[in-house]
Amino acid sequence: MERLTSPPRFMIVSDLDDTMVDHHYDPENLSLLRFNSLWEDAFRHDSLLVFSTGRTLPMYKKLRKERPMLTPDVIITSVGTEIAYGKSIVTDDTWVDIMNHKWDRGIVEEETSKFPELTIQRECDQRPNKVSFFIDKSKAQEVTKELYQRLEKRGLEIKIIFSGGKALDVLPKGGGKGQALAYLLNKLKTEGKLPVNTLVCGDSGNDTELFTIPNVYGVMVSNSQEELLEWYEENAKDNAKIIHASERCVGGILEAIGHFKLGPNLSPRDVYGLLECKEDNVNPGREVIKFFLFYERWRRGEADNCEAYIACLKASCHPAGVFVHPSGAEKSLRDTIDELEKYHGDKKDKKFRVWTDQVLATQTTPGTWMVKLDKWEQTGNERKCCRTTVKFTSKENGGYVWENVQQTWSEEAEIKDDSNWII
Ligand code: GLC
Ligand code: MG
Repeated sequence: MERLTSPPRFMIVSDLDDTMVDHHYDPENLSLLRFNSLWEDAFRHDSLLVFSTGRTLPMYKKLRKERPMLTPDVIITSVGTEIAYGKSIVTDDTWVDIMNHKWDRGIVEEETSKFPELTIQRECDQRPNKVSFFIDKSKAQEVTKELYQRLEKRGLEIKIIFSGGKALDVLPKGGGKGQALAYLLNKLKTEGKLPVNTLVCGDSGNDTELFTIPNVYGVMVSNSQEELLEWYEENAKDNAKIIHASERCVGGILEAIGHFKLGPNLSPRDVYGLLECKEDNVNPGREVIKFFLFYERWRRGEADNCEAYIACLKASCHPAGVFVHPSGAEKSLRDTIDELEKYHGDKKDKKFRVWTDQVLATQTTPGTWMVKLDKWEQTGNERKCCRTTVKFTSKENGGYVWENVQQTWSEEAEIKDDSNWII
């Protein structure tokens, strides 16, 4: 968040399972990849991406390894009981103190053990300020009421949330996704960085609170759970700032961005004519995003008739421009483009995908730009990631010149193996 010098233009606060990530359809994560390139192209530089999940931090990290997920600016885990910032996931200690107010995990465990209707969830789903169970839907209301009274009598201030038709979480009263968002908004306001627009996105019971925060736009994705839709019917039907999308998961988020006119919602992945040879002066970050989309299509064998784009790309590389491969080997940029030609279709039918994360362009001196990003590449279940830096200069009559490209293996890359890594 430090990189922002003024209030963010937009903030997305999104749930992960069955909202950002589709667990039932879209095994290739195409919708998520569409969202990713849109976010990096149109929003990353002046907006905030917040994930708010019921998952614990370790389970969130596991999901990150399974799906092509972007790095959020803020990560709210364990149903709004933990908040952390940035790529290095720095815990908010003030929030930890708030979560420990009138809370005692031992007492919660003791009282809940008296209810045979409650089945404790796995150990990896438990956290200091979140005790989670499964319960039969028909018993949820009755148990919630009774448990609430018993814990109150024991001097605790708690909150009970029913989600997904089967999960029951016991949290501190001040916790939950809504309270966590209110806290974040307040923190941003104090820092003079209150977002111009905020969009909350969810699909189930633990997301309900997100939609109660004043002045935010909201989208319940098409595949939302009954408990969220019922809450909406009873409490928020007249709120024109909340929609029930007709698209599933992240498709519903793109739909809401368009519906509320919160910014562009056409992903670079969908833009027809992307590979045309066209000078585009928006931002050199876009050049990099476009290039890696081309690169994915090229190796998948999908990019035909790209001669014009390739010629244009080559012409945009400085004749003395150098590419430093993650292995340390140096090559001329133009030779690298030439070499690429022989890889057309080499990843056909190999579930090959490429995505860019944290694309940030900074003007270093007038006419000189530095674009930094993480470039991810996946073949089947194997993933690699390189921290990538591209130096550009702007051409006098529009467009940019690629001066040099430098890559190093990212600490997040599970496989740091030079073979088959072209650029
Ligand atoms: C996530 C968590 C689970 C929790 C549920 C509902 O699935 O893993 O522990 O009960 O969200 O909040
Ligand atoms: Mg969900």
